[in-house]
Amino acid sequence: MISRRAMLTAGASALAFPASAQDMRSLKAIAAAKGFVFGSAAASYELKDGDFAPLLAREAAQLVPEYEMKRDALETKPGFYDFAALDSLFAFAAKNRLSMRGHTLCWYYANPPWLVSMLAAKRDEKLLTSHIQTVLRRYPMDSVDVVNEALAPPGTAARADSLRPSLWLDAFGPGYIDMAFHAARAADPKVKLVYNDWGFEQGAAENDRFRSATLRLLDGMLKRKTPIDALGIQGHLSAFGNRIDQRKLRAFLQEIRDRGLIILITELDVDDTGGPHDSVSRDRAVADEARRFLDVALDNPATQAVLTWNLSDRYVDPPDEWKLKLLGWRLRKTPYNAQMRRKPLWNAMAQAFSDRRIFY
Ligand code: G3I
Repeated sequence: MISRRAMLTAGASALAFPASAQDMRSLKAIAAAKGFVFGSAAASYELKDGDFAPLLAREAAQLVPEYEMKRDALETKPGFYDFAALDSLFAFAAKNRLSMRGHTLCWYYANPPWLVSMLAAKRDEKLLTSHIQTVLRRYPMDSVDVVNEALAPPGTAARADSLRPSLWLDAFGPGYIDMAFHAARAADPKVKLVYNDWGFEQGAAENDRFRSATLRLLDGMLKRKTPIDALGIQGHLSAFGNRIDQRKLRAFLQEIRDRGLIILITELDVDDTGGPHDSVSRDRAVADEARRFLDVALDNPATQAVLTWNLSDRYVDPPDEWKLKLLGWRLRKTPYNAQMRRKPLWNAMAQAFSDRRIFY
């Protein structure tokens, strides 16, 4: 019979143990049992951390490169590719039997300076299509963000077609989106082709407009028979700002399913900017907002994957506000803290995954 003191001591010391001693389950196993994939974004430099790499391999069934596949990191000169960092992520995934998803082939941001000037000088479609072919012919992936954030973000003045101004739109007009998807399908007949964006999650009027604009974009693509398989919903949430609206989100996800598209939650994290100073209440609020979001997202059978944008706070970009930067404020957006200990967000995700109803 274990004494009460011994039990309390064991309980207290469990908090000091690494996460693995607290609960042998992994997010990928809990997700798999409910018919979907859990994964995370990672950057190649993170794999050098001995207390992180095994944790990532244990928790995630799929990886997405945080920046190594972006054009400014990959094609540093016209036609010259530095694949080393991206190869190391694919090698880690292969060694640990994780699948990969790609991010991103066509974006308004993270383009090398040479491309910006060359595109302005010569509107050659190969400046987009040959890059897509190069990446997809080298890397086998489960899904890929063919176009990222092509719509004017919530709260910004939008064109009639709601497209975001970009070097691609300037060069080729709205047709650049179809061009990218057709080039991707031609390069890889199997990979799931994804349109990825953010702004569908919250409940403000600007988000209503964004959801409508997204449906118009997708309906146009489907009508023109553009090869698209999935909508990537980034899932950048806020614990103390513009909160998600479960009713509006549920209705929107149903619209996506009604169009025969897969739903991927591609970059889940919860910003705790604006919260109180104590980390306990910030962590609680982060966990609660994620749970509110996942309860809706996972209650749609079209949702096939949930990926977090980083697995540990150690790798999260510092806050934008310079005052918080000066204070050394670390954002607490992910399931593990900087010391690789599970946070309430991990528990909230595990519970939401476990509570997902089975769809027959
Ligand atoms: O690796 C270089 C380093 O060699 C160089 O010295 C340093 C200074 O220039 O830059 C480093 O690259 C940085 C890279 O992150 C890796 O840390 C880039 O400057 C920096 O712009 C890049 O920021 C990333 C950003 O996308 C732009 O690519 C963020 O880490 C990443 O979290 C963010 O992710 C985006 C998604 O792609 C799209 N959805 C929103 C999401 C969050 O903003």
